[in-house]
Amino acid sequence: AVVILDYGSQYTQLITRRCRELSIFSEIVPGDTTLERIKEDAPRVVILSGGPNSVHVEGAPKVPEGLFEYCKENHVPVLGICYGMQLMVQTLGGSVSCAFKGEGGEYGHTSIATKSSRLFQADEEQTVWMSHGDETKTLPEGFSVVGTSPKGTIVAIENPGIGFYGLQYHPEVMHTEKGMETLSHFLFKIAGLKGSWSMQNVFDEQVRLIHSKVGPGDHVICALSGGVDSAVAATMVHKAIGDRLHCVFVDNGLLRYKERERVMDTFEKHLHLPVTCIDASERMLTRLKGLADPETKRKAIGELFIRVFEEFAGVLEAKIGSKPRFLVQGTLYPDVIESCPPPGTNLKHSHMIKSHHNVGGLPEDLKFELIEPLRWLFKDEVRKIGALMGVPKQFLSRHPFPGPGLAVRILGDVTVGSALEVLRLADEIYTSTIREFGLYDDIWQAFAVFLPVKSVGVQGDQRTHSHVIALRAVCSADGMTADWYPFDGKFLKEVSSRICNKVKSVNRVVYDITSKPPGTIEWE
Ligand code: XMP
Repeated sequence: AVVILDYGSQYTQLITRRCRELSIFSEIVPGDTTLERIKEDAPRVVILSGGPNSVHVEGAPKVPEGLFEYCKENHVPVLGICYGMQLMVQTLGGSVSCAFKGEGGEYGHTSIATKSSRLFQADEEQTVWMSHGDETKTLPEGFSVVGTSPKGTIVAIENPGIGFYGLQYHPEVMHTEKGMETLSHFLFKIAGLKGSWSMQNVFDEQVRLIHSKVGPGDHVICALSGGVDSAVAATMVHKAIGDRLHCVFVDNGLLRYKERERVMDTFEKHLHLPVTCIDASERMLTRLKGLADPETKRKAIGELFIRVFEEFAGVLEAKIGSKPRFLVQGTLYPDVIESCPPPGTNLKHSHMIKSHHNVGGLPEDLKFELIEPLRWLFKDEVRKIGALMGVPKQFLSRHPFPGPGLAVRILGDVTVGSALEVLRLADEIYTSTIREFGLYDDIWQAFAVFLPVKSVGVQGDQRTHSHVIALRAVCSADGMTADWYPFDGKFLKEVSSRICNKVKSVNRVVYDITSKPPGTIEWE
C-alpha cells in the first residue's frame, strides 16, 4: 500500500484519490502515528502530506520516530508534499526559514521551472498550485534542487540514492498542470508499483476475507436501510456465504412514496438478497404521536428500530438454532479515516463529526462481530463495485436518505393530520421533476419538507388556507458542508406549479437558499 501520513492539509484525501485513480491502493494514517502502526500496512511508498503548520512552531507535528531510517533500509521511497517536504528537509539536517514573514507566502498558481532529473523528465516550465509560508533554505546532504519558482524558491528536491523526494507545491490538486504525471511517474517509475488495484480485486479480496472469517456454521445478519451502502455490503456478503446471510428491512412508516415496494423489488429481483421486510409503521407512528422535539423524535425512532432488530434476531435464532455471530455494516472509508482535524476546528478526529449517522442505529452492546466490506472505499468506489455486482444504476445513484426518514422533514409532530401523505406526494413530484430535467446526478441531495404552518392562497377562484412545502437541494462532497443548488427559474416555476396543482392542501412552495453552515442539510 501507499501510506499517506496526514499532517492536516485540506488536500490529504485528494492524494489518496489520485493514487486510487492510478489503480494503486493507498490509505491515510495520522501524521503522529507510530512506526509500528505504519509497518502493519507494509508500505511500498510513504507520502507526507501538507499541513497548516510551520515546522518552527512549537509542538508542530514531526515524522514518526525511526520512519526515515526504516524507509532507507527497506528501500521504501518517500515523497514529502509542502509541509511534508519541509519536515523532510528539517529532519534530515537541512534548514527551513520563514522567508515570507509578514508577506503572506506564495499562494495559488505559480509557474515553476523543473530540471531533467529522476523526478522530472525534462527541463521545462509548468504551472503548479502553491500554498506555503515557509521555504527550504539549505538542503540535507545528498539532496539536489530539481525545481524552482520565479522568485528562486526551492520547490522540488530529490535524493534518488536513498529514494527521498520533496515537492513544495501540491501535485494532487487539479490546478497543478502536470501533477498527475509527476505522481504517476513517482509511483510507477520510481517506486516500481504496478497499479493492479481494481474494483474486481477488491471484490475478490473481500469475498476471500469473508470466507476466512465466517465459518461454515456461522450466520450473518444485516439491517438494510434502503440506501446504497448497506445494499452493496450485503450483496458482497451474500455472494460469499449465500443464504446464511439474513437481511431485514424495517418499514418504519417514515419512508418515501412507494419506497418499500421499490427497494424490496431491487433487493429481490436484482440483488437476489434474502430479505425479511418488517412492517413496524403502526408501532412507530403510535410511538411518535405528540412528540415535537427533534431530538426526542430521533431517539424514539432509534430505540424502536433497535427493538425491532432485536426481535428479528430472536426469531432468527429460534429458527437456525443459534445466535447469528456477525453483523454486516456499510461503513465507508471517509468514516474510518482518523485524519488530522481541518484547521480552525477543534474536532480531534474527522469521523466524530458524523458518528451518529453511520452506525445504522445499532448499539455496540448487541455483541456481534462486524463485517464491513466497504471500509476501504469511497462512495464512488462503492458505486463502481455495486455496478460490478449488477446493482441497477438508478439504485446506485440514489441520494442519501437519513435513518429517521421523513420524520426529520416534517417539523414537529409527524403524526398530525395527513402530513406524511402530503409530504410523500410533494417529494415524489419534486424528485421526478428533477429527474425529468436531467438534474438528479448533479445534486447531492434533494427533498421536500413539510412546514407545520398554513398560509393564504387563491386556487380556482377560491380563497384557500393551506400548507407550505419547502424544497431543499444541495451540492456537497460529503454532507459536512453544503451549498444550495442554483435551479433555474424554469425548473422552479414548473415544480411549484405541479406541486400546488397536484397536492391537495398545499398552496405555497418555497425554496431553501441556506448553505451548511449555518443551516444543516435536513431541517431537523
Ligand atoms: P445534516 O442535516 O446533519 O445532514 O446536515 C448531513 C447528512 O446526513 C444525513 N443525516 C442522517 N443520516 N441518520 C442518518 O442515517 C440521521 O440521523 C441523519 N441526520 C442527517 C442527511 O440526510 C445528510 O445527507
